Amino acid sequence: MSKLIIGNWKCNPASFNEAQRLFGVIKKGINKDENVEVVICPPFIYLSSLITASQNKIVLGAQNCFWEQKGAFTGEISPDELKDIGCQYVIIGHSERRKYFQETDEMINKKVKAILKSRLKPILCLGEETRDTFNSEGQPLNEMSLIIGEQVKKNLAGVPAARIRDIVIAYEPIWAIGLGHPCSSDDAMKASLFIRKTLTQLYDRSTAEKAKIIYGGSVNSQNVNDYIKEAQMDGVLVGGASLNGSEFIKIYEISSGL
Ligand code: PGA
Repeated sequence: MSKLIIGNWKCNPASFNEAQRLFGVIKKGINKDENVEVVICPPFIYLSSLITASQNKIVLGAQNCFWEQKGAFTGEISPDELKDIGCQYVIIGHSERRKYFQETDEMINKKVKAILKSRLKPILCLGEETRDTFNSEGQPLNEMSLIIGEQVKKNLAGVPAARIRDIVIAYEPIWAIGLGHPCSSDDAMKASLFIRKTLTQLYDRSTAEKAKIIYGGSVNSQNVNDYIKEAQMDGVLVGGASLNGSEFIKIYEISSGL
């Protein structure tokens, strides 16, 4: 399975000029490597121009979308519209959207299905808010597996087995996002095995093996190997470090074993 290196620019940079410059630096540093797919997810308004500039070297993704394909939904962008401009992926259910825009598991589920219907690939983000804790007897309370298990089931409800191969699941423990406190490779691996096990229960083993499971949360060039090599994740979702062109290229080079 090829590795996925995804840059989530969030609401950055503040000008189109800067976006073009950053994209140019990243494009220059990427070689055509069959084993690594680089996906950049900029704000919506930069998508079209960057798709044109990418010359098929970098794949573009959106950071959100609506679940209806068209109609009277002021301010929304649909999966069909994204597909039409050449976008290939859509990040969905990011913890910031769940937190600041009150996106529920039911809304995320509708979006996942709409994205698949438009022949785009969802990058479904999920993760627990706090690190696993222990009760007074020292027994683990297993928040990670309880929360993730629910999210996988609810967010993928009604998705047929044949479409699981088009889904990327990004394990993003909220406590590790943006703060520079990445999760250990052991914890990332534990979560990834748990997600795969849940998919096996929902579908079957061979279907579960087709999903890509990646890690996100304070990824940088110092720790990317922990996730790609040690935790055997299928890739990484990079936030803050993707806004630094040379750092993002380092992450790419390390992942592709250059
Ligand atoms: P971070 O963000 O790399 O800045 O922690 C990751 C994300 O939110 O997708």
